[in-house]
Amino acid sequence: MASGCFITVEGGEGAGKTTQLEFMREYLEQAGCRMTLTREPGGTPLGEEIRALLLGHRHDSMALATETLLMFAARAEHLARVIRPALAAGRWVLCDRFTDATYAYQGGGRGLSPGRIAILEDWVQGGLRPDLTLVFDLPVAVGLERAGQRGAADRFEREEMAFFERVRAAYLDRARRNPDRYRIVDADRPIERVRAEVEAILAAWLECY
Ligand SMILES: Nc1ncnc2c1ncn2[C@@H]1O[C@H](COP(=O)(O)OP(=O)(O)OP(=O)(O)O)[C@@H](O)[C@H]1O
Ligand SMILES: [Mg+2]
Repeated sequence: MASGCFITVEGGEGAGKTTQLEFMREYLEQAGCRMTLTREPGGTPLGEEIRALLLGHRHDSMALATETLLMFAARAEHLARVIRPALAAGRWVLCDRFTDATYAYQGGGRGLSPGRIAILEDWVQGGLRPDLTLVFDLPVAVGLERAGQRGAADRFEREEMAFFERVRAAYLDRARRNPDRYRIVDADRPIERVRAEVEAILAAWLECY
């Protein structure tokens, strides 16, 4: 059986990732793909417990290395239990954030060197990388305003504006360096406009896949 396709969505808080992911699932299911939707950090029972440690406020001052290793610990579990089995069974995996988020948040945002992250990426993922990554881009203030309407801020959402500007810049930098894999989507538009562009990207992807 042919391996499925691994698609990730990335971008800052409130960019519309989770909203668009549901539309993407619908679109790809209608195109005949069997879909697995999942998210990071999390996606497994153990990963969701790690997510609670990472996003909650019980350990507000955890060291950067701890934070990064917890991200990759959750990712190792996610790959072993969900992502690799799904792909091997020919399912398409749609993941709400993945390793690009580590490069953006722990790398760009907190200053961890990309080389350190790459070591963990190679170890935990082997050669596995997403086939396609959509980066939802929008001004930081717009995203935070949207996310803020959702309730209490998590451990990342409490950072200062400059942190989120660095996260945004890191995402854009990675995406621009590798246009084969990344598509940058202007997320500062009404939901239906963003959806139309996302569907056009998926249509083009299905055509050449
Ligand atoms: N294009 C849009 N225009 C206006 N509001 C939007 C748009 N897309 C999503 N929203 C709204 O903004 C809020 C955040 O959207 P969503 O949860 O999809 O973002 P997210 O990128 O998943 O955020 P997070 O990183 O915090 O998980 C939701 O209330 C959603 O309905
Ligand atoms: Mg979300």
